[in-house]
Amino acid sequence: MPAIESLGASSRSSPIFSPSDVTVIFVLGGPGAGKGTQCSNLVTDYGFKHLSAGDLLREEQDRPGSEFGEMIKTYIKEGTIVPMEVTIQLLENAMKTAMEKENKKLFLIDGFPRKLDQAHAFERSVVPSKFTLFFDCPESVMEERLLNRGKTSGRADDNIESIKKRFRTFEETSMPVVNEFESQGRVVKVEAIKSPEEVYQDVQAKIKDWGVEPITLKFVPA
Ligand code: C5P
Ligand code: MG
Repeated sequence: MPAIESLGASSRSSPIFSPSDVTVIFVLGGPGAGKGTQCSNLVTDYGFKHLSAGDLLREEQDRPGSEFGEMIKTYIKEGTIVPMEVTIQLLENAMKTAMEKENKKLFLIDGFPRKLDQAHAFERSVVPSKFTLFFDCPESVMEERLLNRGKTSGRADDNIESIKKRFRTFEETSMPVVNEFESQGRVVKVEAIKSPEEVYQDVQAKIKDWGVEPITLKFVPA
């Protein structure tokens, strides 16, 4: 990718995709709320393309020759939000690839937007979202899940010190995004304390109200 100031995605004044053609659902929730787990279920049953902003950032961080690698590493370790130009460009690139190679038009964008500037820039320059799926979970539950995950995830930020910082960033920087969308009536809120299966049932029931239905395999008579 080119230098940060010449990344085009976030500087356009109109969206490149139309919401009547491309559907984006943002997936938010504190770290460890179960976003990734629920997204995998939705991919299987609804045919979404799942794009995790955190995964895309970690991939870019590890890409040999990336001029953003060191910067991303520092932000992730500190649990702070990487400058939006980078994240939006990575998302836009991944969306284009999924459209071209997999013919995808339905996207779950997980862990994004984590800050108001990202929310505004993405909806202005890429595509307005349909709604935000918000997983609400107490910190005590998320902390336990993350410490457990940390035993095997190999993630540099699944340790208690980074976890505390990520919680603070979520409250101070990401909750304002949820609150703004909420005030616009664009949030689907799901309690995320229960088991993954129970949470998924709630998700399915609630997104149905927004007209999001599972893929049905058509029976073709012989
Ligand atoms: O979503 P996930 O927990 O994988 O994100 C890991 C880290 O990636 C965050 O704590 C943050 O440092 C960075 N991130 C970001 N902007 C996003 C999503 C993730 O800076 N939209
Ligand atoms: Mg995740």
